[in-house]
Amino acid sequence: MSINVLNRNIDEVKDAESRRQLEYIERARQKVSELEKELGRKPRACVVTFGCQMNARDSEKLLATLTLAGYEESESEDADFVLYNTCTVRDNADQRLYGRLGQCSNFKKKNPHMKIGICGCLMQEPSAVEKIQKSYRFVDLIFGTHNIYKFAELLNTCLESDRTIIDIWKETDRIVEDLPVLRKYSFKSGVNIMFGCDNFCTYCIVPYVRGRERSRSPRDIIREIEKLSADGVKEVMLLGQNVNSYGFDFSDGDSDKISFARLLEMVCEVEGIERVRFMTPHPKDFSDDVIDVIAGNPKIARHIHLPLQAGNNEVLRRMNRKYTREQFIALADKIRERIPDVAITTDIIVGFPGEGESEVDDTIDVVRRVKFDNAFTFIYSKRAGTPAAGFEDQVPEEEVKKNFDKLLKVVQETAKEQASKLKGRCEKVLVEGINEQDSTLLTGRMSNNTLVHFKGDESLIGQMVDVSLDECHGFYYMGSLLDT
Ligand code: 5AD
Ligand code: SF4
Repeated sequence: MSINVLNRNIDEVKDAESRRQLEYIERARQKVSELEKELGRKPRACVVTFGCQMNARDSEKLLATLTLAGYEESESEDADFVLYNTCTVRDNADQRLYGRLGQCSNFKKKNPHMKIGICGCLMQEPSAVEKIQKSYRFVDLIFGTHNIYKFAELLNTCLESDRTIIDIWKETDRIVEDLPVLRKYSFKSGVNIMFGCDNFCTYCIVPYVRGRERSRSPRDIIREIEKLSADGVKEVMLLGQNVNSYGFDFSDGDSDKISFARLLEMVCEVEGIERVRFMTPHPKDFSDDVIDVIAGNPKIARHIHLPLQAGNNEVLRRMNRKYTREQFIALADKIRERIPDVAITTDIIVGFPGEGESEVDDTIDVVRRVKFDNAFTFIYSKRAGTPAAGFEDQVPEEEVKKNFDKLLKVVQETAKEQASKLKGRCEKVLVEGINEQDSTLLTGRMSNNTLVHFKGDESLIGQMVDVSLDECHGFYYMGSLLDT
């Protein structure tokens, strides 16, 4: 783990709110050090993350605050401060949280000093907060997505009080820069380029819990990436719910108003950055200039995650996706033609209201034509407050399951076929760590996001190396390190 307090000297931190939070961290340090004396050991903190890459990045900031306040990071929830960073995109994410909370209450019974906090997307839903207040009364701190930057302040209040602290904002238009971050990997990092979503796909809760689109200024983004690079980071992943509408919220004439394509170019120019990824683009905004920039710039990963969601035009219309199957296929064809070797992956939802077998057959047809290199398939989950939750033609569970299995089979066949195409090639891979099953092997990631395992020395972790792809095992490769 590597701590990255952007600008260590508090006086040099340009954002006043961030400075205020750093002062709160100082105050929390005193309380945590008193706790340390009382416990006779260093207090431990555990952050549990559910959901997407944006949440993972938020958790790196939450953990940095806890660590700087004096807690030792713990993988186990048998800790002195446990914070759940929640997701609400699908129903199972809620259920998983409630399961974990139940277990966590047992730790709290044994440890009277323990504090339990919950934050993130699910906490933006009043019904979930009510449920926690009623059924999980042992929770000490609840906050949402918009005031996550105030965590140091909330931590102080929580350490001082025996009551449950609840602070949830409906929205915010601010972006707080320069918060401390505790990165999970020393050599790669996510970088938020924008927050929120304005698309309102009818099944999706995100626009309600993450608010309207807000882009960070290109200067702040580049400054952060330069610091990351100076700190040893080689790969960055630009994060946003809808990255290719980056900058749409800046007013015309604003010097900050640049396109996503231009931002990508600027990021590639940062010295020391060897690979650039981004997640997630929306097919409706995927313009030719972005394709051109990727095609002309080998630093940009040969991987595009392009969520299809459905392949039937009526379903797409009712989802409010703003493209047709024909437009999606044409876009994918254009990407494959302009960027040879690119892997295209996708998200697909099965069981959206009104989607029967013949509609899913249309989705299967798109999967076959586009030949996705991988696809995340989800069963439609009804989210209260979204338009689709009120649609009358909800599909019975059994039918959804049947259609889901049918789709999954084709998705797996296509992905396998695509993966096997790389056999015998030599690829640049970023070595990410020691293989979990076999400690004599290293695991690296190719530009197209495929993993390869090969013999090599631990000292290569974080390096970009050449590997030959010897054997394809379904979704990953076994390879051998090449001398460079
Ligand atoms: N039900 C099922 N899947 C959903 N997603 C978003 N909302 C829902 C929902 N209500 C999926 C979409 C999106 C991914 C992150 O989660 O496929 O791309
Ligand atoms: Fe949800 Fe659609 Fe926004 Fe993605 S683009 S976060 S699916 S509303």
